[in-house]
Amino acid sequence: MSQTWQLADYPFAEALLPALAAVERKGHGDLEKWRAALAALPAVENARYEFSPMLAVDGDCSATQSAQLKQALLPLHPWRKGPFRLFEHYIDTEWRCDWKWQRVLPHIQPLAGRKVLDVGCGNGYYMWRMLGEGAAQVLGVDPMWLFRMQYEVLHFYFADALEPSQQVEMLPLGIDDVPEDTAYFDTVFSMGVLYHRRDPVQHIRQLLGQLRPGGELVLETLVIPGNDADELTPNGRYAQMRNVHALPTVARLQQWLLEAGAGVARCVDEADTTTEEQRQSAWMWFHSLPQYLDAKNSALTIEGHPAPRRAVMVARRS
Ligand SMILES: C[S@@+](CC[C@H](N)C(=O)[O-])C[C@H]1O[C@@H](n2cnc3c(N)ncnc32)[C@H](O)[C@@H]1O
Repeated sequence: MSQTWQLADYPFAEALLPALAAVERKGHGDLEKWRAALAALPAVENARYEFSPMLAVDGDCSATQSAQLKQALLPLHPWRKGPFRLFEHYIDTEWRCDWKWQRVLPHIQPLAGRKVLDVGCGNGYYMWRMLGEGAAQVLGVDPMWLFRMQYEVLHFYFADALEPSQQVEMLPLGIDDVPEDTAYFDTVFSMGVLYHRRDPVQHIRQLLGQLRPGGELVLETLVIPGNDADELTPNGRYAQMRNVHALPTVARLQQWLLEAGAGVARCVDEADTTTEEQRQSAWMWFHSLPQYLDAKNSALTIEGHPAPRRAVMVARRS
């Protein structure tokens, strides 16, 4: 089955098509199973929506539909980004993304009417929060097919809540598949992605290139404590993650932003990631942060690195 992509209003849409064709050709071994789950989602009458503080939909969902819904959601495990509520089902995801959103939202330009790019959008949880703030167009990119499937669940239940003028699309692509320097977006988010990139300065340049002059970059990433410009390059895993390349102090992150041409960035939040914010749940039963910390000293990961701490930086494209 071939996917359709809602890209008509993006001036660079054509340039995305070869990468989309390639990921479709490559597919994923579980795609048919996931698509069957999506096809079994029950449509519910008289929907009522909430975007904040909880992403939620209510409506006339019968007991049979409710059971069908649960059966459709289970094959899409692990549910990492949320939480949200679909009728009586509270999807208690691995992450309390609503907490991160509370740390970010008060510090950024109001999203109403803005064109937004969310790089590393996961299943699109934040995209719906952005739309709830009135964003005009939200495009998310994340290379994981499973997250595209989960996005389709959210789209199935929340798309009717949007104003006719609002647009949303999530593409199973990486940022490298997006044409460089589109200078199209008013706000670009990159949350939880920078430490996965081999060249952080180049990633920041890529993000800035997607912004119109004066547009806002919201960069959230893992940091280490300390006042000096320093960075940790984990030799091996970090909190069991294989692909963590560098964790800077905020001062070092400021340097990367300057080097990339972002000008002076504001650090608007710095917070330790707690085991209340990231943990196993009924909807994500793999290991999570509590298992990745040193059992005797929760200030350290099991590899002996400083435990996860995150900073939110806000900068402008000049
Ligand atoms: C730690 S998660 C963060 C998700 C979400 N932004 C958040 O803050 O909760 C990192 C996400 O980035 C995605 N990712 C990794 N490399 C990427 C790339 N090159 N381009 C876009 N997304 C990428 C991963 O698939 C994953 O969903």
